[in-house]
Amino acid sequence: MKGQVIKDGVTWVGAIDWERRLFDELIPLPDGTTYNAYLVRGSDKTVLIDTVDPLFTEALTSHLEANGVTRVDYIVSNHAEQDHSGSLPMLLARFPEAKILTTPKGKGMLQDLLEIADERFQPVADGARVELGGRTLRFIHFPFVHWPETMVTYLEEDRILFSCDLFGSHYAVGNLMGTSFQAFEPETKRYYAEIMMPFRTLIAKSMPKVAALPLELIAPSHGPLITDPAAVLRVHADWLSDLPHNKAVLAFVSMHDSTRHMARYLAEALVDRGVDVEVFGLASADLGKLAMAMVDAATIVLGTPVVAAGAHPLVAYAASIANMLKPKARFAAIIGSQGWGGKPVEQLLGLIPNLKVEALPPVLARGLPRAGDFAALDQLADTIAAKHATLN
Ligand SMILES: Cc1cc2nc3c(=O)[nH]c(=O)nc-3n(C[C@H](O)[C@H](O)[C@H](O)COP(=O)(O)O)c2cc1C
Ligand SMILES: [Fe+2]
Ligand SMILES: [Fe+2]
Repeated sequence: MKGQVIKDGVTWVGAIDWERRLFDELIPLPDGTTYNAYLVRGSDKTVLIDTVDPLFTEALTSHLEANGVTRVDYIVSNHAEQDHSGSLPMLLARFPEAKILTTPKGKGMLQDLLEIADERFQPVADGARVELGGRTLRFIHFPFVHWPETMVTYLEEDRILFSCDLFGSHYAVGNLMGTSFQAFEPETKRYYAEIMMPFRTLIAKSMPKVAALPLELIAPSHGPLITDPAAVLRVHADWLSDLPHNKAVLAFVSMHDSTRHMARYLAEALVDRGVDVEVFGLASADLGKLAMAMVDAATIVLGTPVVAAGAHPLVAYAASIANMLKPKARFAAIIGSQGWGGKPVEQLLGLIPNLKVEALPPVLARGLPRAGDFAALDQLADTIAAKHATLN
C-alpha cells in the first residue's frame, strides 16, 4: 500500500490508529487518531517529513517500500515528541545517508529522547531553506506548538504547510484528503483545547508568520489534511484571541442531588438572561468536551458538595485541569451544598492560580437548596450576565 497521494511528488505515508481511545493517558479520543508522515520528492532530494508513533513504524516503512524509496536525504523533525519521532532510530539505521532537519532545540530534545548521534543532525535556523530540486522547503520556528522546540515546514512551490501538531485533530478517517474541515472541526477544537490552549498567548505571537503565507493546503501531523486553510485560521483567530464568548461552563458533581438542583437552576437562570451555558456532570463527562467548552467561556462555575471538609475530588480534578489548560475565562464562581461545614471554596480557588479570573460570590446551601439559595443563584446569574455585558 502506497499511502495517499496528495499531489505528484507529495505523498502521505503515515499511519491511521483507528482504535486509540486515550492520549497522554488523559484525553479521550472518540474518533481515534492518525500519525501523519509525508514523503516529498524533488528532482534531486527525497525528504520524509516527520515519522510515526513507534508502534506504527511498520506502516510507515511499508508505505516507503511501496513507493520505491531506497534513499532518504533528509528527515524533517518538526516536533520531537515520540508520536512523531519514535520511528526515527529505525529510519536512521535503514537510510544511513539521511540527515535530520530540526531546530537546534529539537536536536537536543531528540538526543535526550532517542540517543541519536551528533553527525546525523543538520539543525535549521528560522527562515532557512533547503532545495530539493524544483521544490523548496522553508523552516519556520514556531515554539510551543506545543513543546519549546517545535517548527513548521512550508513547501514553497506547492504552498503546503506541514504544521506538526498545530491545526491537528484526533480524527481517524480513511480518506485524509477528501474530508471537509467542517466534518472534523469539533475534533480540531478538542485538540486545540487540550494541547495548544495552555500556550495560547505564545502561539498567538507566532501565528502571523503562518497566516501571511500563501496556503493551498495544511498538512498537520494528526488527522485529515485541511483543504480550506482560511477556515482553520479563522477558528484559531477566535480561539487564540483574549475575548471570551458570552458563555458559562458549569461543571458539577452531586451525590444526593442538592448540588444538581442548584446546577440546573443556575443553568436555566443564565439562559433566561441571554447567557449561553454548557453543563457537565463530572461523574460521567467527557473531559475533552469540558476542555472544548472552556476554549471560549467567559465564566467557569464549579458545583460541589462538601466532602470531608473540602470539594468533591472530581471537582478538584476538573479545577486542576482548568488550571493546566489556562482558558481565557474572566470570572469564576463556586456553588454547592454542605451538611455542616468545610472550606470547598478556598480549596477550589487555591487550585486555579493560573486563571486570571475574578471570583464571584459563592452560593453554598445547607442540605437541599431552599428559596434563599435560589434567590442567591438568581443574583449570581444577574452578576454573570452583567459582567458578560461588559466583555471587550
Ligand atoms: C462522604 C461524605 C463526606 C461528607 N463530608 C462533609 C463535610 O466534611 N462537611 C460537610 O459540610 N458536609 C459533608 N458531607 C455532607 C454533604 O456535603 C451534604 O450531604 C450535601 O448536601 C450533599 O450535596 P449533594 O446532594 O449535592 O451531594 C459529606 C457527605 C458525604 C457523602
Ligand atoms: Fe505533540
Ligand atoms: Fe502529536
